[in-house]
Amino acid sequence: MDITVKLTVNGQEKTIATDSQRSLLDVLREDMGLTGAKYGCGEGLCGACSVLVDGKTVRSCVTPVSKVDKTSIVTIEGLASDDALHPVQEAFLEEGALQCGYCTGGMILTAIALLEENARPTDQEIVEGMNGSICRCNGYPKIVTAVRRAAEKMKG
Ligand code: FES
Ligand code: FES
Repeated sequence: MDITVKLTVNGQEKTIATDSQRSLLDVLREDMGLTGAKYGCGEGLCGACSVLVDGKTVRSCVTPVSKVDKTSIVTIEGLASDDALHPVQEAFLEEGALQCGYCTGGMILTAIALLEENARPTDQEIVEGMNGSICRCNGYPKIVTAVRRAAEKMKG
């Protein structure tokens, strides 16, 4: 069934007419050209497709676009402003917390949601908060360090 969905994506209002069962990931990538969200498992298990929907991390591969009507979505493309990276992006770069980069967009958005809820996480809380986001390059130690560094940056 075709539906019309109104969204704000990275600050821009969008109206999409599409099949209600298409995934948010498909719409972001195919219709909007926002390819930073990746297709990994397609089953909600790896986090490569994560985006923020009203500030919460959502696995876009298993989210029908019909479920995000009238929401505000942030993808990895929407983080940097005026040529300045988001502090979490900076921290990932500074700590070298990426290798192939396939998981990185989802990791960064997951870290942002984590730090919104808990601005001063312990390492254990970082591990628990990032749990379920899979890095096939096994970059977990540097990812934890980067999230810790990002928390320090965001404290100001
Ligand atoms: S591709 Fe969506 S969770 Fe793996
Ligand atoms: S950096 Fe390659 S999957 Fe994480």
